[in-house]
Amino acid sequence: MKSHKLGMSEQQRQRTEAEVRDERHTLGTWTRQRDFEPTEVVDTEEFRFVTADGDSILDFSSQLVCTSLGYDAERVEEAVADAVREVPYTQPGNSTRYRAELAEKLAEVTPGSLNRTFFSTSGTEANEAAFKIARAYTGKEQIMSRYRSYHGATAASLSASGDPRRTAVSSSVQPGVPGMVKAPDPYAYGSTLDPEESLEYIDEQLMLEGDTVAAVLVEPLVGSNGVLTPPDDYLPRLREIAHDHGALLICDEVMTGFGRTGEWFASDLYDVEPDIITMAKGLTGSYQPLAGTIVTEEVAEYLDDNLLNHGHTFSGHPVACAAGSAAIETYREEGLVENARDVGEYLEEALEGLVDRHPSAGERRGIGLHQGIELSKHPDERVPFEERIDKVSERTTVVDEVAERAYDNGVYFYTSMSTIVVTPPLGVTESDVDEAVAALDDALEHSDAKVEV
Ligand SMILES: Cc1ncc(COP(=O)(O)O)c(C=O)c1O
Repeated sequence: MKSHKLGMSEQQRQRTEAEVRDERHTLGTWTRQRDFEPTEVVDTEEFRFVTADGDSILDFSSQLVCTSLGYDAERVEEAVADAVREVPYTQPGNSTRYRAELAEKLAEVTPGSLNRTFFSTSGTEANEAAFKIARAYTGKEQIMSRYRSYHGATAASLSASGDPRRTAVSSSVQPGVPGMVKAPDPYAYGSTLDPEESLEYIDEQLMLEGDTVAAVLVEPLVGSNGVLTPPDDYLPRLREIAHDHGALLICDEVMTGFGRTGEWFASDLYDVEPDIITMAKGLTGSYQPLAGTIVTEEVAEYLDDNLLNHGHTFSGHPVACAAGSAAIETYREEGLVENARDVGEYLEEALEGLVDRHPSAGERRGIGLHQGIELSKHPDERVPFEERIDKVSERTTVVDEVAERAYDNGVYFYTSMSTIVVTPPLGVTESDVDEAVAALDDALEHSDAKVEV
């Protein structure tokens, strides 16, 4: 579903005054402006958002996989209000207790010796910083990433992405920034490539590139390119291969960080210490725009004597850092990471039930509360309903229609390619899962009717 279009009744209903003014003066993201029809949200409560029409919608994708704390995180709300009164802004060369506290907490919750963080405001900026740091540290220039990936909208991050948003003719991106090498993915469903072979290929590519690659960049569990999980030994082996060729491992945990998979970071699922982790979204539960690029002490020490040629006006913004610090306290004190693991198991079972019952539900994938169901028009032959390029095409896709029917049933799901993304806030209960799965159960009848057998 194009994220701006919510609800089957969108065409018939009267536009609100705010929607009309908004459309007149705002350029919408990732859309032809003719199709930009935003729905006015007027209120939020716990895990629901309320539209101007009075619909209260259970949010089972955490918006864009980012509102991991739901909408009533009081500790974060108060921290933001206090900080905005005390130190609304100071330049990044100054210190605040908000940034100090957050940086210290990040060193605690991230794996291994990851210790010092560069702060920015969005996931794409976190990746841009990671590229510069990896290049400086290794003295090498290239960045290797995979085809089924999204790393952000700015020049280098989108060039590193394999997403159709990079290759679309009108993307204004191609040929992209130089020095980006693309590698295959460990993706089994509907692909002829053996996951094992993809690692061997990467090994060979790094050698053939003459060991000029500064970093291998991956989402440990792929998000907006279809919720993909690698084999268990994939990430540890990838780290080894990268290091054998003198490259760092950057894990883009913008989507998977902060408990989503039932561990603080998806890297923890595989006991891997990346050289760099990039993060955003869940870092503040999206109460403030904030991102981070955390590096190992070894990489940080290199920067002690070498220029970090990078910065932003809003780096380490005090109000955003206060939100980040309070968010981490909330994850900890409410046991949200553990809840994601426990309720994640319940959700996984319920989604497997949908796959058993619905011919169009091809495969469930994911870990914890990072789940998705890929829809197939030929389940036996594993043919997805949509082409990858449909992500940027004008076509209304079957997966969008399924999400729209679920929305009409009162539950919001984000879609990605042929996949219904099921990534609720981390505090959801089994009864929230029951409600969401019932809405999806009904909606999948729409795609079942389109299965070609
Ligand atoms: C894995 C991943 N990396 C990077 C980004 C870019 O983050 P942002 O939109 O905050 O720039 C996203 C956004 O969805 C993402 O999913």
